[in-house]
Amino acid sequence: MDKNNSIEVHDLSKRFKLYHEKATSLKEKVVNFRRSVFEEFWALKDIDFYVEQGETVGIVGRNGSGKSTLLKCVAGILRPTSGEVLLRGQISSLLELGAGFQPELSGRDNVYLNASLLGIPVKEVTKRFDEIVAFAELEHFIDNQVKFYSSGMYVRLGFAVAINVQPDILIVDEVLAVGDETFQAKCLDKIREMQRNGTTILFVSHSPDLTKKVCSRAVVLQEGNMVFIGEAKDAIDSYHDIIIEQKLLDAESSRNTSGEDKMITIESVSLKSPTGQTVDRIDSGSSAEIAVQYGAGSGLDDCVFIVEIQNDSGTIVFSSNTDSLEYYPTIKQGTGVINFTIDTLPLAGGVYMANAAIRKRGTSNDYDRFDRACTFKIIAPGNNLGIVETPVHVKLESLNNTVSI
Ligand SMILES: Nc1ncnc2c1ncn2[C@@H]1O[C@H](COP(=O)(O)OP(=O)(O)OP(=O)(O)O)[C@@H](O)[C@H]1O
Ligand SMILES: [Mg+2]
Repeated sequence: MDKNNSIEVHDLSKRFKLYHEKATSLKEKVVNFRRSVFEEFWALKDIDFYVEQGETVGIVGRNGSGKSTLLKCVAGILRPTSGEVLLRGQISSLLELGAGFQPELSGRDNVYLNASLLGIPVKEVTKRFDEIVAFAELEHFIDNQVKFYSSGMYVRLGFAVAINVQPDILIVDEVLAVGDETFQAKCLDKIREMQRNGTTILFVSHSPDLTKKVCSRAVVLQEGNMVFIGEAKDAIDSYHDIIIEQKLLDAESSRNTSGEDKMITIESVSLKSPTGQTVDRIDSGSSAEIAVQYGAGSGLDDCVFIVEIQNDSGTIVFSSNTDSLEYYPTIKQGTGVINFTIDTLPLAGGVYMANAAIRKRGTSNDYDRFDRACTFKIIAPGNNLGIVETPVHVKLESLNNTVSI
């Protein structure tokens, strides 16, 4: 193992057996004896990377891509089918919700149990006990059985134990998202403090912003394969490319309008570049056109068209409608397209989706609505977090000469 590394994962693969049917009767058991009723499934294939001592590496990927399986293999909870994991130092992990807790035991007993599993002597736990409970803010509930804890309380206790054992390597799965915002902020402060103290961290989050904020590098998993490893910003970019290329967020394929008798239907929504081509990526700050194609069964007047852009966490970041432009088009029977030209779209880099709706002026009932009708990527030059991206100029001014001695 390289002396600078805390974690080394060598050609790691993990196979699960997926059982399709279970023999329920004795007859079935006899008939199926020795016959395989399972299928092999590779949840991880040839994963190979290292984490240097003191580094924080993120793991991103869609649901089921293998993130938790990889963390469990690193934490030693799952045994790899092939390959190996090498670790240097004491490891502590916060995996799935409630993992490692005994529901029948009290919070207090679980703290001792968890710490003892990590090899921490009882005397040491007693010394740190109050700190753990205070961090988890569970003073009033620590003697209750954990089966009565809310999911947020579980995470608080789990995180408090995981960090207070002062590990050399900390492994954190998605769980932080379960805590409320104040607790999340407290955990982040703690993670930063641990980073300053040289703790090595392996971190799974579905939030691109959080991954960019916390991790220096990140791994992208896709169906058990490691498709990218590099700077966190580039990893998120690569993850977004997967989402766009595979049209994973598009609702188009699942939309079924047949059988409904609508007066007007939105057939498609597309993003167009300033030159009029349909595109799935556009530079932040450039102009764009959203084209809404409709089909009308009969003529309609006083229509209001609405377009919205939402980010990958579902927040509407832009919305416009013909009502606010005091334009109430009259629609003829047949198909047509209405184009919304947006002079500048100064959104932060990331994945976005466009929604469209049509309604009659003065009502709030949509004739039709098509959410997530198209997905696109905004390419931004910087590495900024947040919702908008706009040029910024910075000037440093020294105020020394104004200080009177
Ligand atoms: N014990 C198991 N037996 C069989 N299959 C499993 C087992 N654990 C995980 N899997 C399968 O392995 C794949 C990867 O699961 P994993 O939990 O690692 O995904 P993930 O990336 O953590 O997803 P999520 O974002 O939803 O947490 C999934 O298809 C899952 O069904
Ligand atoms: Mg998971």
